[in-house]
This record gives sequence, C-alpha cells and structure tokens, in this order.
Amino acid sequence: MIGLLFGLTFCGLLFTPVMLAACPARCECSEAALTMKCVSKDLRHIPTGIPRYTRNLFITGNHISRIGSETFRGLDNMTTLSLSNNGITELESQAFSGLHSLLLLDLSSNRLAVIHPEALAIPGGALRELNLSRALRAPSAIADLARSLRRDTLGALCALDLSGNGLGALPSGMFSRLPALRRLLLANNSLATLKNGTFSGLEHLEELDLTRNAFRTFQGESLGELEGLPQARLLLAQNPLSCSCSAWAFARWLNGSRGRAGDADRLACASPPELRNSSLLEAGTAAGGGCRTGEGIDLALQTPHVFLGLVLGFVGVVFLFVLYLNRKGIKRWMFDTRDACREALEGYHYRMEVDSDPRLARVSTTADL
Ligand SMILES: *[C@@H]1O[C@H](CO)[C@@H](O)[C@H](O)[C@H]1NC(C)=O
Ligand SMILES: *[C@@H]1O[C@H](CO)[C@@H](O)[C@H](O)[C@H]1NC(C)=O
Ligand SMILES: *[C@@H]1O[C@H](CO)[C@@H](O)[C@H](O)[C@H]1NC(C)=O
Ligand SMILES: *[C@@H]1O[C@H](CO)[C@@H](O)[C@H](O)[C@H]1NC(C)=O
Ligand SMILES: *[C@@H]1O[C@H](CO)[C@@H](O)[C@H](O)[C@H]1NC(C)=O
Ligand SMILES: *[C@@H]1O[C@H](CO)[C@@H](O)[C@H](O)[C@H]1NC(C)=O
Repeated sequence: MIGLLFGLTFCGLLFTPVMLAACPARCECSEAALTMKCVSKDLRHIPTGIPRYTRNLFITGNHISRIGSETFRGLDNMTTLSLSNNGITELESQAFSGLHSLLLLDLSSNRLAVIHPEALAIPGGALRELNLSRALRAPSAIADLARSLRRDTLGALCALDLSGNGLGALPSGMFSRLPALRRLLLANNSLATLKNGTFSGLEHLEELDLTRNAFRTFQGESLGELEGLPQARLLLAQNPLSCSCSAWAFARWLNGSRGRAGDADRLACASPPELRNSSLLEAGTAAGGGCRTGEGIDLALQTPHVFLGLVLGFVGVVFLFVLYLNRKGIKRWMFDTRDACREALEGYHYRMEVDSDPRLARVSTTADL
C-alpha cells in the first residue's frame, strides 16, 4: 500500500516537469484555460513548440521584428492571437495562414512598415476582429494594408480598428471587400476629407468612429461618403469643425439626421474664433439667419468687418476733433504757408522773367565765357 502511494507520488513528480517542459521557455501555459502567455519577456522570435491545445495566445511587449510565413502552423484551434506591442515591422505572406479558427487578431502598437500581399490571407478564415490601432508606422503601410484588404478574403471581418495611425488619407475602395464589417474605428488620425468611394461596399456598417481627426467640415465627396452609410452611427467629436457659413449645409444635414451622428449634440465649433466651443448645431441654427444660401456671405467674416468700420469711424472722429482743437495753430500755419508760398512764387516769377529774356541770357552766357 505504502509502496503504491510512493510509486504514485514518484510518478507524479516525474510527470510534472514533463508537463512544464511542454511550455516554451519564458512563457506560461495553462491547458485548463487553453492559453499561453509570453508577456514582456524580451523575446526576439515567436517561440517554437506552442502547445497544440492553445486557443488564446498572448505574445506581447517583446522585441519581435517580423512574423514569417506559416509561423503558427498546426494551431488549428486558436481563436485569439495577440501580438500587441512587439515592435513588429514586417508581416510576411501567409503569416497567419494556418489559423483557420482565428477570430481575433490583435496587432496593435507595433511599427508595421511592410505588409506583404496575402499576409492576412487565412484560407477558409473566419477572422472577426482585426486590431491595427497604432500599428502602422510608415506611409507605405496603409497602401500595403489596402492592397491586402482588397485581395485577401476577410469576408467575415466585423470590426477593424485603425485608430492612432496618423492616417492623412484612405485609399479609395480599401474596405470594398469587407462586406460583413460592422465597426470601423478611424479615431485619432489626420483625416480631413473622404474621397469618393472610400467607404464603398460597407453596406452593413453600424459604427464609424472619426473622432479626433482633422475634419473642418463635411461637404461634397466627404459628405457623400457619410450619406452612403445610411445605417451607420457616426462619431465625429474632437474635430476642428468650422461653424462659418460654408459649413452651414453640414450643420443642417446633421440636424436633419440627428440619429446618425451619435454625438451630434456634443459637436463644438473650433472656428471662427468668436464661435469657438459653441455647439455646432446651435451655431448652425443661428447662422441660418445670417447666411444666405448660395451667396456664400460669411457670418464669420461680417463681424470683423463691422468692427473694422467702427474703428475707422472712431479714428476719423478723433482726427476731426484734433483739427478743431488746433484750429488757431492751423490757421497760423496756413497763413505762414501761404506767405512762404507767395515768396517762393514771386522768386520763381522773377527767375522766369530773367530766363525768358534772350538778351539777358546772352549776356550771362558771354560772361561765362
Ligand atoms: C481542436 O478542437 C476540436 C473540437 O473542439 C478537438 O476535437 C481537437 O482535439 C482540438 N485540437 C487540438 C490540437 O487540441
Ligand atoms: C485595439 O487595441 C487597443 C490597444 O491595445 C485597445 O485600446 C483597443 O480597445 C482595441 N480595439 C478594439 C476594437 O478592441
Ligand atoms: C493618438 O495617436 C498617437 C499616435 O499617432 C498616440 O501617440 C496618441 O497617444 C493617441 N492619442 C490617444 C488619445 O489615443
Ligand atoms: C462617385 O463615384 C461614383 C462612381 O464610382 C459616381 O457615380 C458618383 O457620381 C461619384 N460621386 C461624386 C460625388 O463624385
Ligand atoms: C468648452 O465647453 C465645455 C463645456 O461645454 C467646457 O467644459 C470647456 O472648458 C470649454 N473649453 C474652452 C476652451 O472654453
Ligand atoms: C433642426 O431640426 C428641427 C427639427 O428636427 C427643426 O425644427 C429646426 O428648425 C432645425 N434647425 C435647422 C437649423 O435646420
């Protein structure tokens, strides 16, 4: 009996290190939770020997510069992969191609400069959520990404986070092959306009986050893009929105579709200065009286003009008053000036007569000789 117990204990002791050894160095594995984590362990590569049971893999806060082809081979059941904050600069083709069950891919806080075509291709993939927040660090990366998104089949993608990437423009049609997209997060970029076709194909979009960008207003193609997303709730706060007359049409549009912009009531004017921080909708209503449609009279410009007129009028009044106070001095000055002029004119007349007399002229010429 004791021998049996001893044997079991021994077997247990023998077995435990074997179980631990199944986890890559510097990582933690939990078979119960189907999870492996390697958090801030200064890893330079994705470790080999990831347990096949892993469904949730977190390799974050390391120094991994690239993800090679088929790095995650044989992990058919993996659903969540976070590679956040690793300084990744390059995704090779087929980087995630073995992950047929992957639902969430988090690549946030990296420095992606090169995304090879088919880097995001997952044959038969079911990817629902792709997080590229603060992940793109080169202007070329957005072009690479646009090409990948158009080419690779991410037909099940529901949420795409592209916030905090400093994006100044979005390639036309870059989301056109993402028919299932519901949430598109573009907050904290540098977008000021939306080209025709930017959001084409996003028929089911439910949320579009454009907060903290560089939009002054939405008109023309930009407004057309928003109108083309009839079901989407728009988030537009913290843009440098203008409340001048040229932006009035946008305010009216917003007012007419209040349900659309979830934060319409909280939108504030950034310019003109006298309307700064007032509500866009209220300023739009007030401007409605002052702006005449089609004529482009700018309420924002009228106020400084009135001010300038008042200042000029005041200066004129002060000038006349000073003249009045000095009327005696001025009279004396006028007399002095008149006398001076008279003297000068007389001298001039005298010289004219002398010069015009040919005899005198000849005398002076011969005298010179
Ligand atoms: C993957 O999941 C399926 C069904 O849930 C299971 O039968 C299979 O054993 C899992 N594969 C691995 C390698 O754990
Ligand atoms: C994407 O990742 C960032 C940083 O890790 C996080 O704050 C954000 O909520 C994530 N986006 C989504 C849609 O979950
Ligand atoms: C906005 O994005 C920049 C990077 O482009 C980042 O440094 C900053 O922390 C972000 N701001 C917020 C409030 O997320
Ligand atoms: C946008 O492009 C479509 C064709 O792709 C065209 O029908 C439409 O008139 C364009 N809209 C604007 C505002 O240019
Ligand atoms: C803008 O208005 C909000 C309240 O509507 C206030 O909290 C904030 O301090 C104001 N900012 C400036 C710069 O006036
Ligand atoms: C805003 O809409 C309301 C009705 O929803 C309307 O009464 C009001 O006149 C509108 N204001 C402007 C400036 O269009």
